[in-house]
Amino acid sequence: QIFHGTAFTSKSAKEVEQLVDYLFCINEDGIIEKIVAPSDSEYEKLLDAYSEAENFHRLADGQYLLPGFVDLHVHAPQWAQSGTALDLPLYDWLNTYTFPVESKFSDLDYAKKVYEDLVSTFLANGTTTALYFATVHKEASLLLAKICSEKGQRGLVGKVVMDDPEQNPDYYRDQDTQTALADTEEFILAVKDLAKSTKQGVYPVVTPRFIPSCTDEALKGLGELAAKYDTHIQSHCSEGDWEHNYVQDRFQKNDAFALNDFGLLRDKSVMAHCNFLDDNDAELFAKTGTAIGHCPISNAYFANSVIPIARFHKKGVDIGLGTDISAGSTPSIFDNARQAVVSSRMLEDGVNTALPAAKRGVPNSRITINEAFYFATAGGGESLSLPIGRLEENYAWDVQIIDTKLSTAKLPIFNANEDLYDIFQKIMYLTRPENIREVWVQGERVHSRAN
Ligand code: GUN
Ligand code: FE
Repeated sequence: QIFHGTAFTSKSAKEVEQLVDYLFCINEDGIIEKIVAPSDSEYEKLLDAYSEAENFHRLADGQYLLPGFVDLHVHAPQWAQSGTALDLPLYDWLNTYTFPVESKFSDLDYAKKVYEDLVSTFLANGTTTALYFATVHKEASLLLAKICSEKGQRGLVGKVVMDDPEQNPDYYRDQDTQTALADTEEFILAVKDLAKSTKQGVYPVVTPRFIPSCTDEALKGLGELAAKYDTHIQSHCSEGDWEHNYVQDRFQKNDAFALNDFGLLRDKSVMAHCNFLDDNDAELFAKTGTAIGHCPISNAYFANSVIPIARFHKKGVDIGLGTDISAGSTPSIFDNARQAVVSSRMLEDGVNTALPAAKRGVPNSRITINEAFYFATAGGGESLSLPIGRLEENYAWDVQIIDTKLSTAKLPIFNANEDLYDIFQKIMYLTRPENIREVWVQGERVHSRAN
């Protein structure tokens, strides 16, 4: 396939590169083989040879290419309750809403209905790669991996482990520790098998829900399984006061160091939230290659907190964005990129200075929309150690085509020669699913809109 058009991609965390009227040559494996600038000598030759060919895609006027988004934190079953119960504290929310919802996924017909809708919705929102928590059920978790495989999304999927009978309800937990570990191992092998016939890749993920839901033996066994099969790992880390204090009481240390003791912080680890990481924890993340799945909308609802993302990034921690469906209600990484900027500004300046006791916030906390775009794309790819999230040679062709001139969802661009960087910012702040005309993963079209 050859694509001809204007693209935006991250050059660095702070800089967005504009590739104006470039040619992108994609090979049969769905990898970007060559990127050709209009000034290159080959450019005219390639245009002459291919512009009438069936595999040549010329973007229309007003259309732009962005890398597909990476969502680093999703609870797939919670799609069924998205947008509800956002006013409860985390512990109550888990026990009264979330565990009952997740327990229904022993029913594969129900799981199929929810998971198919979620994966399609994510693709329509430009999310080409997602890191999923499924449920404790091995079969339904495998079904989610199969649905990603069939719909063309790059899915990283974990069977959730919650084995501690003291901490989890009897109606929703692993039967016992040995079964939790055996099911995880079988799940890893089954997904690795599925990956052999999946062009864009599916990956098994070792998934202790969070420290409070797991016994020491399970945490240790999961660390060993991840090392044995070289898998990704995901969990929640230092999300809110309750969880943070629970781990302190149990281990007399912060989540990060406790997780590390069980072999759960490694290069392919992604920890959600991390609101209460201190500088030592962040340094441990940087040293082990552990990434943060930053979920700014969820953090506002369930942690009442803004994570100092600029500070941790400066310390060398990999960072990407997550929706955290359904503690975050929206399936859109665009929405989370916008909130990441807003939240960071509140951390920097966010007090009502009219109040007598008000102090200003934390200096140097703000991030720009360029950085939010970087976290949504390249940062997500780095967090997962996969060649995705950038429009560069040897990266996967995972893209979204944004139409700014759609009659039903036009972006406010009124000048024929509008500055391209202004167009980029308008895309980041104003794009709706209607504007996302096509989505490609690994060189295959996985979503297109008729209207
Ligand atoms: N901590 C443990 N489980 C969950 C969950 O499902 N959502 C969030 N936000 N935090 C959690
Ligand atoms: Fe979560």
